[in-house]
Amino acid sequence: NIPNRATIIEVGPRDGLQNEPQFVPTETKTAFIQKLWKAGFQEMEITSFVSPKWVPQMLDAKEIMAAAGSAAGSIVLAPNKKGIEAALDSGARKVAVFIGVSSSFNQKNINKTTEDAMLGLLPQIAELKSKGIFVRACISTAFHCPYEGKIDPLATLALCRRFAEAGVDELSVADTIGRAAPTESYSLFSLLKKELPSVLLTAHFHDTRKMALANIYAALLAGIDRFDSSTGGLGGCPFAPGASGNVATEDVVYMLHEMGIDTGINPDILIEAIAIVKPYVSREITSGFYINKMNQ
Ligand code: HMG
Ligand code: MG
Repeated sequence: NIPNRATIIEVGPRDGLQNEPQFVPTETKTAFIQKLWKAGFQEMEITSFVSPKWVPQMLDAKEIMAAAGSAAGSIVLAPNKKGIEAALDSGARKVAVFIGVSSSFNQKNINKTTEDAMLGLLPQIAELKSKGIFVRACISTAFHCPYEGKIDPLATLALCRRFAEAGVDELSVADTIGRAAPTESYSLFSLLKKELPSVLLTAHFHDTRKMALANIYAALLAGIDRFDSSTGGLGGCPFAPGASGNVATEDVVYMLHEMGIDTGINPDILIEAIAIVKPYVSREITSGFYINKMNQ
């Protein structure tokens, strides 16, 4: 039941850059985003409306939206009412809220327990839906938490179910610290697919232990056809110690195309996009597709 087409949601401008210590100039981020649109993405997380004290790299969210957020597929993250209002003021039509399954992670990331964060988000989701906004809910620590260890899949399902019942359009289910094994990917995504047929399900893998491509393959076998990834393999959450970059978009695209699964993405343009941000980022680019291109 492997699909013959998959959707890649590019998260490089947001997840990829949010944890970079050196501020990437707004015009560089904008050029990166514009190049990425040229590669063929239909959906991209371009920035986040979060506290600049917590995540200084994203302090130019408003400017990024003004310069590069006009495409219908632009997604912005927002953690609370203040962020959601700023996102809507900037013209956002797709908003991603985020929460972890584990309370310890949420305390570090958003300064709230899971329950308090959820109670804060429910009226916001209703408000967004009443305005016709596409709502994506990013579910962190869906497999493992850096503070609490292995997460019970039924706890992940229960949180996902509350979002589905609240009317979100999409759940992006994340292995925040890149710790899941393909067997876990297959079983959690099979469970979510069976229990929550009415929402779009997306898999978000970090590649800390180089298991992300195997986890994507396992998710494909479970019927998932939407994947978050970050060009250049950049990324990581500042409040998830030990987490490394997202799976690299160019490697995902290469693998899917070799399997006969169409994505609509031109991986050669991703190499051009990497060249735009590479001088500003601390992370080495270690994706197989990139290294192979550089060695040619
Ligand atoms: P807090 O300190 O508890 O918030 O932080 P507060 O409500 O007490 O407000 C404190 C100050 O922040 C006030 O300003 C507010 O106005 C301001 P002050 O009066 O001190 O000058 N503030 C804001 N400013 C801009 N935008 C806002 C906003 N809200 C309050 N939206 C808060 C709580 C949620 C704000 C903070 O913890 C925060 O911004 N956290 C964001 C953390 C983050 O961005 N993490 C990375 C994204 S999640 C991720 O990467 C995981 C994912 O990739 C999936 C995966 O891999 O797992 C999605
Ligand atoms: Mg992430």
